[in-house]
Amino acid sequence: MLPLIRSKIIFYIKKKKRSFPFPTMVEAASLTVCVTGSAGQIGYAFIPMLLTGSVFGPNTKIDLRLLDIVQCEDVLKGVILEIEDGAYPLLNSVSSGSDPKILFKDIDVGVFVGGFPRKPGMERKELLAINGKIFKAQGEALNEVAKPDCHVIVVANPANTNCLLLQSTCPKLPKENFSCLTRLDHNRSLSQIALKAGVHVSAVKNTIIWGNHSSTQYPDVNHGTINGKPIREVIKDEGYLNKDFIERVQKRGAEILAARKLSSVFSAANAIKDHLRDWYLGGKADEWVSMGLISHGAYNVPKDIVFSYPVHCKGKWAYEIVQGLKQDELSLEKIKITTQELEEEKKDAFTN
Ligand code: NAD
Ligand code: LMR
Repeated sequence: MLPLIRSKIIFYIKKKKRSFPFPTMVEAASLTVCVTGSAGQIGYAFIPMLLTGSVFGPNTKIDLRLLDIVQCEDVLKGVILEIEDGAYPLLNSVSSGSDPKILFKDIDVGVFVGGFPRKPGMERKELLAINGKIFKAQGEALNEVAKPDCHVIVVANPANTNCLLLQSTCPKLPKENFSCLTRLDHNRSLSQIALKAGVHVSAVKNTIIWGNHSSTQYPDVNHGTINGKPIREVIKDEGYLNKDFIERVQKRGAEILAARKLSSVFSAANAIKDHLRDWYLGGKADEWVSMGLISHGAYNVPKDIVFSYPVHCKGKWAYEIVQGLKQDELSLEKIKITTQELEEEKKDAFTN
């Protein structure tokens, strides 16, 4: 082929490729992501997941912002040295600091880990007085400078009510863009059922965490399956499913805290990864996951508390709450308890 004709053909193919009307999720995307509390433990475990494509896919470039308190700015500089040493192909840029108005400017995603973790013997809601203030201030900054379609996950405890505080001070973003992490509890529930049944964790599907990321949460097995069979048909042990299992998942954070003298870290980072990946890229068609969301009243939960629901993630930040699941008497009783706790937390948060 004559060289001129050959180069014209190559030019035409490249042009066609560039002008393809619907780029796939993994093509040419870049996201600006701010991780708050990134000088801390969870931030340190989560950042490599973000930069190796486990969160937003293998072709999504990341402009990373690291926010922590002013006293931790030197630590953040050290984190950046390690990021540079990773030579991550997905990293576009990285910056750090302690001013949320600078670090939240035009962000697509906010990962709110910054806050104080609980110490042995404390309930998560005891952190409200300390961490609640942070969220009110950060919500105002987010409202001022973030992109209007920014999406948010709150991790710092008490995660549900901190998320509500953030949302209430950031009316610019749609309520649907706010979420809190209950995926760790969801993953814990899958693993506990797998261990009890003696199967691989991938055989267990569709457990649910209802309510608060606290010791009142309700881990529900009634709609879940093991290798396609209802969990209650495989594990024929009512005492275990209705009590021991529930309490084990409810108190897992405290169990880890007692053993490590520190709260969970890499399991939490892994759950943040799962939550954001499914929300952005979409989950499996036959599986739902648990996410804390601003209630619009689904399942008779009062509006405007952040409540963990079962959701199908559809990709590109779209999700649907799974509708029409039957709730037996035990479920209704447990859901009432966790709802009451969230209402109390809300009252405390807005009167402090
Ligand atoms: P950590 O103490 O190691 O790190 C927290 C970081 O937040 C610190 O570097 C601290 O300086 C920073 N910080 C404090 N105030 C800040 C502010 N105003 N702005 C920005 N950063 C600020 O704690 P960790 O182990 O990384 O845990 C972080 C939070 O996540 C805790 O509140 C913990 O209880 C919570 N957590 C939640 C879940 C969940 O499933 N929802 C799981 C594990 C931990
Ligand atoms: C967890 O569930 O492990 C975290 O929320 C940490 C904690 O305080 O329990």
